[in-house]
Amino acid sequence: MMKHLQDTVTLHNGVKMPGLGLGVFKVEEGDALVQAVKTAIAHGYRSIDTAAIYGNERGVGQGIREALQENAIPRESLFVTSKVWNADLGYESTLAAYETSLKKLGLDYLDLYLIHWPVEGKYKEAWRAMETLYQEGRVKAIGVSNFHIHHLEDLMESARIKPMVDQVEFHPRLSQRDLLRFTQEHGIQMEAWSPLMQGELLSNPTLLELAAKYGKSVAQIILRWDLQHGVITIPKSTKKQRILENATLFDFALSQEDMERIDGLNQNKRIGPDPDHFDF
Ligand SMILES: NC(=O)c1ccc[n+]([C@@H]2O[C@H](COP(=O)([O-])OP(=O)(O)OC[C@H]3O[C@@H](n4cnc5c(N)ncnc54)[C@H](OP(=O)(O)O)[C@@H]3O)[C@@H](O)[C@H]2O)c1
Repeated sequence: MMKHLQDTVTLHNGVKMPGLGLGVFKVEEGDALVQAVKTAIAHGYRSIDTAAIYGNERGVGQGIREALQENAIPRESLFVTSKVWNADLGYESTLAAYETSLKKLGLDYLDLYLIHWPVEGKYKEAWRAMETLYQEGRVKAIGVSNFHIHHLEDLMESARIKPMVDQVEFHPRLSQRDLLRFTQEHGIQMEAWSPLMQGELLSNPTLLELAAKYGKSVAQIILRWDLQHGVITIPKSTKKQRILENATLFDFALSQEDMERIDGLNQNKRIGPDPDHFDF
């Protein structure tokens, strides 16, 4: 179990990935973005999650470079994730998309590159490109996002390299029991997106009750639940106070009973699209 903000989990290829990171979905290019990334890193975050489609890789890169310099941190101690967008899924196009992301970020490698959505008929070719990038040493780890069990099974039938990570929607209303078990059995690390259900869970009565019991915020209760499930989590905030709050998860532990109470909130309810029915 993680004891510190910078603790890592070891992916199946031996690469270490921080259990907590900063998400930057819907954060536009500009000073607020650069400052959020810098604030997170200055206060101990070591993982940042972006994607080509977020349209903010330049600002993320700027924040990263400035933070590394100002805090005298080496690049190798950071873990940077980006994702190839649906329109770029294909062998050559995925290779090219990787170069474009690197260029925008101003980095010479990523720690993790993900296939953003399982576009039918396209993700296998894209995966071949991911394998090439990995085998050529251009990226430290490769994975997928929004893959259901059947997508993972299908991919693994022809893959030479098993994905190291599956980043999926995961929160107390969508606790992904079967997928979590499947990924654990196969050594694939699950990572939670929209862990706070984009803010929708913050007034849930059960979670408020648990927050009062532990003297923590609802966000902290949820994020701690992620970590105790062995799920990497990447809450998004651009506000300094919340960036700090979301990382203060290591001075308490949820009891088994309370973990199960939170599990009991599951309704298989999504805030984002179902990976079996998306049209973008
Ligand atoms: N792979 C995918 O398809 C996919 C899809 C969606 C997201 N993601 C990744 O996952 C990350 C997180 O998901 P998300 O951004 O959708 O949602 P989220 O992290 O569940 O929630 C973010 C929202 O909660 C607010 N918030 C954050 N911390 C808070 C706190 N301590 N107290 C109260 N409110 C708080 C934020 O507002 P403020 O910013 O105003 O604080 C923001 O409105 C994304 O940024 C992205 O990196 C990936």
